[in-house]
Amino acid sequence: METRVGGREIIPFCAELIKKGEVVGFPTETVYGLGADATNEEAVKRIYEAKGRPSDNPLIVHVSEVSEAEKVAYVSDLAKKLFSVFSPGPLTIVLPKKDKVPYSVTAGLDTVGIRIPSHPIAREFFRACNCPIAAPSANLSKRISPTTAEAVFEDMNGRIPAIIDGGSCSVGIESTVLSLAGDTPTILRPGGITEEMLRPYLPDVKLFSGKVKVAPAPGMKYKHYAPIVPCVLYSSVRGAEREYLLRKGEGKNPIILTKGANKELWEEKGFSYLSVGDTGEEFTSNIFRLMRYCEKIYDYLLIEKPDENGIEGSLLDRLMKSSGGKCVF
Ligand code: TXA
Ligand code: MG
Repeated sequence: METRVGGREIIPFCAELIKKGEVVGFPTETVYGLGADATNEEAVKRIYEAKGRPSDNPLIVHVSEVSEAEKVAYVSDLAKKLFSVFSPGPLTIVLPKKDKVPYSVTAGLDTVGIRIPSHPIAREFFRACNCPIAAPSANLSKRISPTTAEAVFEDMNGRIPAIIDGGSCSVGIESTVLSLAGDTPTILRPGGITEEMLRPYLPDVKLFSGKVKVAPAPGMKYKHYAPIVPCVLYSSVRGAEREYLLRKGEGKNPIILTKGANKELWEEKGFSYLSVGDTGEEFTSNIFRLMRYCEKIYDYLLIEKPDENGIEGSLLDRLMKSSGGKCVF
């Protein structure tokens, strides 16, 4: 299959593909998605095939308005309030599903994750399709989430008929998944909307923690976000330096991904490095793209550990998975 890539001008063509039950790559403000008609079982099956993903991991359903969300889920007043504050944007709310959503989308669950993206191309695409769009991130299963159309092409060339190019994703990691389906509002996956931002509206919100057996968010039990070369985090310059020299000594070609504020230090030492940016937002928005770039040139990635709060706290969740929890001190 040939994969067509184009800008906003291919939206009508892509909407036709969706109506025929095909899968299309599209941009959102978080990461690129792999979309299909959420009400078409065959189309949904194709998403799992293209991604190489186990079908026990539910998909998020994307819509352009709350009124569209109400066609696929029971949207409580609290959910409406949260959508009015944080959407369109990087928040997914897990709600009781309506019959229109097949169980193949929710992996057998009676709930569905609903998201209203803010990316103008995503919104134009949804309106042209005129149906709810089920979409996971547009990477091959286990791989780094794609934040550019090039990254989607890398993983999906020949597997899907089209990719809409909307440039680099501004947030750079996936949406926050918040469940309102249980007794206590629970963040199942931290993301673009942080716990601190939700707290004023949800004083009792908690972060899901603990081992995933019977999964409230089945995605949590799989390896994720991994580059094709080893990747470790570092929390001190000394630790990073030691690890870098150790790998050099083994004949490897390591690179340091440093926060902008510390880059001079690596420059002075003559180490290979790249800056991830000067703020937590830049770090988050750049890192997946940089990881995909570096894995092609270097064979060992040393990434400065993000802080534990705010957007960097969400990024830390992802990078702990990329590194398999390995951190040098
Ligand atoms: O930003 C995003 O959320 C991106 C863009 C494309 O919208 N999408 C995305 O989808 O990251 P995906 O499939 O890679 O991750 C969806 C996460 C998984 O961890 C899944 O388990 C969880 O959301 N999820 C989806 N529906 C759920 C449900 N009904 N109950 C619990 N967790 C759910
Ligand atoms: Mg994903």
